[in-house]
Amino acid sequence: MSAAAFIEKNKDRFLNELLDLLRIPSVSADPKFKNDVFAAADFVKESLEKAGADLVEVCETAGYPIVYGEKIIDPSLPTVLVYGHYDVQPADPYELWDSPPFEPVIKKTTIHPEGAIFARGSADDKGQFYMHVKAFEAMMATGELSCNVKFMIEGEEEVGSDNLDAFVIANKERLKADVILISDTHMISMKDPSITVGLRGMAYMEVEVTGANRDLHSGTYGGAVANPINVLCKMIASLKDENEHITIPGFYEKVQELADEQRKRLNEAPFELKEYQDKLDIESVHGENGFTTIERVGIRPTLDVNGIWGGYTGEGAKTVLPSKAFAKISMRLVPNQDWHEIAKLFEDHFKSIAPKSVKVKIKKHHGGAPAVVSDSSVGYQAAEAAMEETFGKRPIPTREGGSIPIVALFQKELGSDPILFGFGLDTDALHSPNEHYGVKNYFIGIETIAAFFRHFRNLNQK
Ligand code: BES
Ligand code: MN
Ligand code: MN
Repeated sequence: MSAAAFIEKNKDRFLNELLDLLRIPSVSADPKFKNDVFAAADFVKESLEKAGADLVEVCETAGYPIVYGEKIIDPSLPTVLVYGHYDVQPADPYELWDSPPFEPVIKKTTIHPEGAIFARGSADDKGQFYMHVKAFEAMMATGELSCNVKFMIEGEEEVGSDNLDAFVIANKERLKADVILISDTHMISMKDPSITVGLRGMAYMEVEVTGANRDLHSGTYGGAVANPINVLCKMIASLKDENEHITIPGFYEKVQELADEQRKRLNEAPFELKEYQDKLDIESVHGENGFTTIERVGIRPTLDVNGIWGGYTGEGAKTVLPSKAFAKISMRLVPNQDWHEIAKLFEDHFKSIAPKSVKVKIKKHHGGAPAVVSDSSVGYQAAEAAMEETFGKRPIPTREGGSIPIVALFQKELGSDPILFGFGLDTDALHSPNEHYGVKNYFIGIETIAAFFRHFRNLNQK
């Protein structure tokens, strides 16, 4: 039996196993789910073992474990390293979900007429890394595995992969591979397959603005003492000018400008502004002047408030002049911005614009480097050929706005080019309520991964 026939024959089981994995609420950000995150690691370990991997190990770290497994069929053959993450984003706010986030259901949508799996982590990244486990199983079961394979599935991606760098550096030899496959990104659409060749970096900050030493009566003191929420809003508003240009001095200094020809090519990717707006129920897009939407997301840095809080937000009205205000602010970075440098520029600038009437504290959360990967490596060519085979169309290289900070580290430490072989869609609601992943995407992904192994082996033999 061919791997493709094996996949076809085992479709129901492949789907049900993924649903079982999705039932584990492995939220890395919230300590309440600690046992579930560990349980997900064990699930991954068992799946790899059942699929036929050797040396499967749940490697402890200072945080959540990294699951490693491998199958070396012949050391002289090329080796593929698969990276993914079994942790998920918090599902909050639960009331915005149409069905409980950890009780997966399959429903049809306009974009997924054949059904999509609704659950937190379905697209990011359980449904996507699990395709690799299943493709591996199918290749093993049918004797089609044509390359060595190594798996490294971590549990802290959604909280910044704090312990992965050290693991990668300490295990360079074990992780040695000819190509790294990561399915944790999007394609343009089912009819326009694409391969991601750029990701943004990130610097994530938290600010605390303090006015008086206690909450005050807003009548007794209002108008005379700084309201830290008002001040914080004003400070944040000043971080972008009327052209949506970030005002932090030095922020753009290292930003790599693309040549006109490169920009032109980037904008040739299929993109319908009207459709993009309609899907989001917005009348208009919003962003830096002088750049298209594709460019604003793919090659330009940005700054966003992810959350802002303080004062009274309970029932009814309370008249209070709060003592403190807070905000979480992230900056998406592009080559060649360095996140530590940007964090420092932010901190210096934010402190410098604070009025004397308040005190400002700044905390640096996580960050990571942007990455650009080759669109001509042997790995890329194999991915291109595999997609062409299963989608019937040559994939387009694209740059995406999201971040997978570990990609840059892989390039630096492991020296092999990662292939961002994602099969999700930008409408899959990653990190949002009602996250989902197309059933068809799941299966075409499994088939395409199996095809990749075949092409990668052949291209390496030439
Ligand atoms: N899978 C995403 C990254 C992604 C999503 C890349 C869509 C391209 C398209 C990943 O799990 C993620 O959410 N990354 C975080 C960064 C991390 C440091 C928390 C992100 O982009 O916000
Ligand atoms: Mn992800
Ligand atoms: Mn994510």
